Amino acid sequence: MSARILDGKSISQDMREELKEQTDQLSRQGVVPGLGVLLVGDDPASRSYVTAKEKACEQVGIHSDEKRLPADAGREQILGIVEEYNNDDRIHGILVQLPLPDSSMEAEVIIAVDPSKDVDGFHPVNIGRMLMGEDAFLSCTPHGILHILKRSGIATKGAHAVIVGRSNIVGRPLANMLTQKNDMGNATVTLCHTATGDLSYFTKQGDIVIAAAGRPNTITADMVKDGAAVIDVGVNRVEDADSAKGYRLMGDVDFESVREKASAITPVPGGVGPMTITMLLYNTILSARKFMDGNR
Ligand code: GUN
Repeated sequence: MSARILDGKSISQDMREELKEQTDQLSRQGVVPGLGVLLVGDDPASRSYVTAKEKACEQVGIHSDEKRLPADAGREQILGIVEEYNNDDRIHGILVQLPLPDSSMEAEVIIAVDPSKDVDGFHPVNIGRMLMGEDAFLSCTPHGILHILKRSGIATKGAHAVIVGRSNIVGRPLANMLTQKNDMGNATVTLCHTATGDLSYFTKQGDIVIAAAGRPNTITADMVKDGAAVIDVGVNRVEDADSAKGYRLMGDVDFESVREKASAITPVPGGVGPMTITMLLYNTILSARKFMDGNR
């Protein structure tokens, strides 16, 4: 079998056209959705994510404001900018690009963001509401994965989803979203991580396998069952002297071998990545709408 390619770029494009219609409607009502972006340090990957997010904002009619701080910025400076965005009525969503150069500050910074502007869905209030099945901003990468599955006709109800990776950004929230009793959940979920002994014992049982480990070739063909749907969240920069940039992007899945066994697979790039950005736009517009309705 050669797998159907789940084209996140094309699904994103469709969703962004729908989102553009929403921002047009909002701006006719006098509200331009606004996203405040804080980038600390000059990590090249973070810089390129932030640039892609700002470009996408422009594409759908969201105003974006960027602030940069040097890698050695202190907590007062970082929290000062978060506070500025919290108090700015033109800003409906706040994004502090992670990881921060000093990762020990991340929890404090995440908690400082006003939950009603937490379009990353990282604040404990939104995580807690999500766990309870209440209205919440959902973290963008897991939410994007649910939309890829839904729009590709891959049922989650009753499926066994096996997730590899327990990060706060992907694995943990995704495990919860997939177990929710709604039209994008209702799956049985296994969450694997670095202490999982025999990883392939679990992945081979997955109707849906989601690789979010941050390591190339974490999932190879012998680790998936025939006909599984495979979602690759990995974005690994590996050195490549033949590439003009000096590196190329690789997912966590051995794409060429796994595509021969799976029924559906996301490519890297062009799979989950564009959807993460699209869900950020989605949340920012949702926040602007709530602001307009006085419902935040
Ligand atoms: N770093 C990697 N993914 C993300 C994300 O979704 N949001 C933020 N703020 N930082 C990230």
